[in-house]
Amino acid sequence: MNALFKPSGPLRGRLAPPADKSISHRAAIVGAMTSGRVRIVGYLDAADTGSTLAAVRALGAAVKRGDGEVVVGGCGLLGAEAPPGVIDVGNAGTLMRVLPGWLAFQEGASFTLDGDASIRRRPVDRIAAPLRRLGAGVDARDGRFPPLTVHGAALRGIEYELPVASAQVKSCVLLAGLATAETTVIEPAPSRDHTERMLLRAGARLRRGRRADGRYWTTVLGGDRAERGAIRPEGGLELGLDEVRIPGDLSSAAFLLTAGLLVPGSRIVLERVGVNWTRAGFLRILERMGAIVLGDLEPEGAFGALEPVADLEVASGPLVSTTVTPDEVPLAIDELPLVALLGCFAVGETVVRGAAELRVKESDRIATVVIGLGRLGVEIEALPDGFAVRGTGRLPGGRLDAAGDHRLALLGAVAGLASENGVEVVGMEAASVSYPRFAHDLARLVTAAG
Ligand code: S3P
Repeated sequence: MNALFKPSGPLRGRLAPPADKSISHRAAIVGAMTSGRVRIVGYLDAADTGSTLAAVRALGAAVKRGDGEVVVGGCGLLGAEAPPGVIDVGNAGTLMRVLPGWLAFQEGASFTLDGDASIRRRPVDRIAAPLRRLGAGVDARDGRFPPLTVHGAALRGIEYELPVASAQVKSCVLLAGLATAETTVIEPAPSRDHTERMLLRAGARLRRGRRADGRYWTTVLGGDRAERGAIRPEGGLELGLDEVRIPGDLSSAAFLLTAGLLVPGSRIVLERVGVNWTRAGFLRILERMGAIVLGDLEPEGAFGALEPVADLEVASGPLVSTTVTPDEVPLAIDELPLVALLGCFAVGETVVRGAAELRVKESDRIATVVIGLGRLGVEIEALPDGFAVRGTGRLPGGRLDAAGDHRLALLGAVAGLASENGVEVVGMEAASVSYPRFAHDLARLVTAAG
């Protein structure tokens, strides 16, 4: 499906962006691991999170969808049943990498996960390595790619140092660590901590700290019975959640915030957005670029069971260039394509480094962003681990191929609003993975301008 996004008049008004995708995935997965029922209020209604509900249902969880909420009846930590067929993760990389952490300790059961063409190009060796060290069996195509088969086993605790910061890999190891006496993950830089917060809420014991070399560690402690090496069916540790309220997705809100900053005369408020500091790197980058974002952000370093929310207000205004450093990358990883677009309208050169991870997202996002924005007239250059954009203050427009990547489709749409001649997005349907009602929300903000 092609969609044309024309240069826009000012965006005005307020709206609540869709529910957080990362937290929705975790609520469904951790909910399925509990021994009770969890009511998930505001579960994201999109393709990726639909795949997660189907997956946990296939594993034996009860899933009931209601009006704006989902109720999950858990299987219990040790109660996931191997479905007869493959677990289809669709386009959802988070599901592909996080769920195996739970499956890894379903002793004697084997599970195969597969997905669409994009998923099949994205490496899973990053979870296979720690899961094998924990004691699970793992097979992957060419040792690296889906389909991925996990053979559940009794696990032993490990200390695992992540080669690159990845919340998905960290989450996988922490879930598996529940079935060990003690498992520690060490990250080169902090990444989003939604799994840790969800597990804390569910009653798991977690500790986090910073080593002398500046690296962050997180330790998960298993139940009493786990001290013997594994959680046995007779119990020891049980998780429980009652009600989880999903905040608005900052990564989805980021597209609207960018439109509000770039379209002259705009002023918008986005309501109830999740502002966990491990997700809010983009807001700090925006401030450095001269944008004024009003809203109560969580202080850096905070940790606990809660996911903070805030209303965020932005208005259009002049921007200056910035350099995004490798340490900031994990905290703004999904918003970096928008930094490229903002850089086009900022005075000077905007550079992103240390973001080679972008190459293994739903598309090779260094290549697709550079080619996509380049064809629209943006002066952008690819680097091995990022990109550099020259701020010209203008974006002529043209056609952008979403390459099956939701964030590329949304990027093209926002570029269109800020362009001189409009942008035709080829493959706009990709947006349904995280933000199905994007065009509708946009129309509301533009209409509200009167
Ligand atoms: C996610 C973590 C990030 C992010 C992805 C969602 C998550 O990936 O890019 O969209 O929900 O844990 P990595 O942790 O692999 O960098």
